[in-house]
Amino acid sequence: MVKLKAKTKFIYVILNRVLTIRGADIEKKGLILTLTRDDIQTIVESDDLTREPNWKVRLRHWSVWNELGIKYRTFSVRGIERISLIFPPMTAEKRQEIQRYVKKIQILINVNIDESTLTVPGCTKSESESESESESESEQKIEKPIEADPTYFKPDEKLIKLLDYALPRRKTVYITGPPGSGKSATVEWWCKKNKKPYVRMNMDGDLLKEDLLGQTELVSHKNPDGTFTRITQFRGGIITQAIEEDKILLLDEIDACPPTIAFNLQAILEGNALVNTRSGKILDIKNCKNFTIIATANTKGTGDETGLYAGTFTQNDAFMDRWTFIFETQYPSVDEETDILHHKIGIQKKIARKIAELAKEIRYSIIKSQELNMTFGIRRTMSLAEAIRAFGENDFAFDIGLYNRLPEYNRDTIREIKNRIY
Ligand SMILES: Nc1ncnc2c1ncn2[C@@H]1O[C@H](COP(=O)(O)OP(=O)(O)OP(=O)(O)O)[C@@H](O)[C@H]1O
Ligand SMILES: [Mg+2]
Repeated sequence: MVKLKAKTKFIYVILNRVLTIRGADIEKKGLILTLTRDDIQTIVESDDLTREPNWKVRLRHWSVWNELGIKYRTFSVRGIERISLIFPPMTAEKRQEIQRYVKKIQILINVNIDESTLTVPGCTKSESESESESESESEQKIEKPIEADPTYFKPDEKLIKLLDYALPRRKTVYITGPPGSGKSATVEWWCKKNKKPYVRMNMDGDLLKEDLLGQTELVSHKNPDGTFTRITQFRGGIITQAIEEDKILLLDEIDACPPTIAFNLQAILEGNALVNTRSGKILDIKNCKNFTIIATANTKGTGDETGLYAGTFTQNDAFMDRWTFIFETQYPSVDEETDILHHKIGIQKKIARKIAELAKEIRYSIIKSQELNMTFGIRRTMSLAEAIRAFGENDFAFDIGLYNRLPEYNRDTIREIKNRIY
């Protein structure tokens, strides 16, 4: 009998899920799956990861990664710890071998989670993958209450109106708003819907000028006679590449970018500038059909005023002046959020409506009272909906889907709001 800590079981649940629904990708290209502590919390059943003194250290002790040939790395973006699981490209046999092993251990430790209720963040299913999965699900006789459409999107009409105007004219847009209010998702949705090429980059405090504009580096060049010579070669940065490939550039969390680095964007934001890539090549932005910059941020370049957005920087005023449009996102209405939860998570409308009403009340209380220092985005309502879909409208679901992720001092107030609605 394999003895494993109960907490370790979440690894197997995630692995099994990923190997099933992203199997084709893993075999061909490999896969990097990034999870935040919040993502894991949704999956982990009742384990409270926040009580663990050092999450990163504990993850390192899980030797199972090496055994399975899966690498991982932990890192932090804007103070939020994340873990990336790195699946190398592998043969179908190897994947199946790992999958069998993972399944076996799952059974041995008696993982008591209905897998059909779990979604692995960052994983969407392609049609062919869904087919093969539904076969294996029918074998296991798992019943899904309602089929959720993970691609369902209900865009904010005002933001779409702005993007419809700004993007074809290559105007720059700075979208600001609280976490989980659909900033990044709406831009991506627009680009996909309008079949416009785009590239998305997450900004962070460690960003270098070279990451944006590229750099010259020394590389080994193999000569025809088999000898090597060291030559210099230019490696593009995210901006130079987006210009060269003529893509819309989505810079996510731009307020996490240090202002000294953000300076490098100023000329480009003015639109007429020529970019010298240091390769000797001059890129004329005027020749682009698509290239423009759309930024998202939780602040308006004012830095962290509330303690909620640690890791953001106060931006230079001149930098903020250079954006053509600044848009503020709002959370969806109760009707809209009900629809989102119904379609994305697959719960019944009347259950979705209650969650949306609860979210509205919580958001209202956050604005009204000074004591609730937190945000409550769509990601949070989706987590609660996921828990309710899996376990029903009971205390356990509210613990794992809502209360456990809140700081202790906010829980009583949120419980009161919940009790008023339910
Ligand atoms: N209008 C919508 N319809 C359907 N799903 C939505 C909508 N808006 C947001 N979502 C979903 O909510 C989640 C959070 O959205 P998104 O990542 O765009 O938020 P954000 O405002 O960029 O948050 P952050 O500030 O944390 O980056 C995503 O899973 C997204 O698909
Ligand atoms: Mg975002």
